[in-house]
Amino acid sequence: MATDASPSHPSNLPSPSEAGANAGSGSESSPQTEAAATPPAPANAVAIRDMTIDDLAPVFHLGEQLFQNELYPTLYRTWDEWEVSGLYNTDPEYCLIAEVEGEFAGFVLGTVIEKQMTYGYINWLGVDHRFQRRGVADSLVDRFVERTIHQGARSLFIDTDPANEPAVKFFTRKGFDNVRRHVYMSLDLGQHPYFGRLIDYEQDQVERAARKHRRRAKG
Ligand SMILES: CC(C)(COP(=O)(O)OP(=O)(O)OC[C@H]1O[C@@H](n2cnc3c(N)ncnc32)[C@H](O)[C@@H]1OP(=O)(O)O)[C@@H](O)C(=O)NCCC(=O)NCCS
Repeated sequence: MATDASPSHPSNLPSPSEAGANAGSGSESSPQTEAAATPPAPANAVAIRDMTIDDLAPVFHLGEQLFQNELYPTLYRTWDEWEVSGLYNTDPEYCLIAEVEGEFAGFVLGTVIEKQMTYGYINWLGVDHRFQRRGVADSLVDRFVERTIHQGARSLFIDTDPANEPAVKFFTRKGFDNVRRHVYMSLDLGQHPYFGRLIDYEQDQVERAARKHRRRAKG
């Protein structure tokens, strides 16, 4: 299994953390510097690897814990098994797993979009509570960015719930700016003068069909 399959930055460049893109993270160094380094990696070093089929369930369940309805309703509504399996299917090179001391610690799921320009988009980022504030997201995002640059990306986008202070602070610290607010609206269909009646009609049809089925079953 590839733990470092990405085209990491060249050895004559500073790593993202050395370059000041983030401070004090436990992120791993590039393969080139790893090869030259003699001291063993710190015990709590973050290792980033490609996502595998076995990671689908752990990633989904960690997302269930993190994207809670009471905290972030928009994230909660859109997180499901298909998000994980779909991105793993279409964009495996942008689905990464972080491990700390061999334990699953977090994930990033993203994509690269090519329109007039090429840009990276982070769909989902999550770190297990036990491993938060230890540079895990830093390492995941840095590796993700390296891969998107290799693919031609020259900018990155993310979105999250404005109330998600940890994420907003995290991305601000990573250098993201140009905040643009997005309006979410909802419609209670049951209360709508036309659609409400349509719902009643559909329900009535289902009940009639069920009654008919029961009568037939009785003979
Ligand atoms: C946002 C998140 C991914 C950050 O992961 P992390 O591994 O803890 O982040 P890092 O350790 O790499 O970076 C830490 C920095 O992020 C910000 N940060 C992270 N958690 C924070 C919190 N609870 N409160 C305030 N700032 C926070 C700070 O800038 C922090 O730097 P500091 O420790 O020097 O203050 C993590 O909190 C998480 O999984 N949240 C729930 C899921 C989510 O909201 N994902 C993003 C939207 S999809």
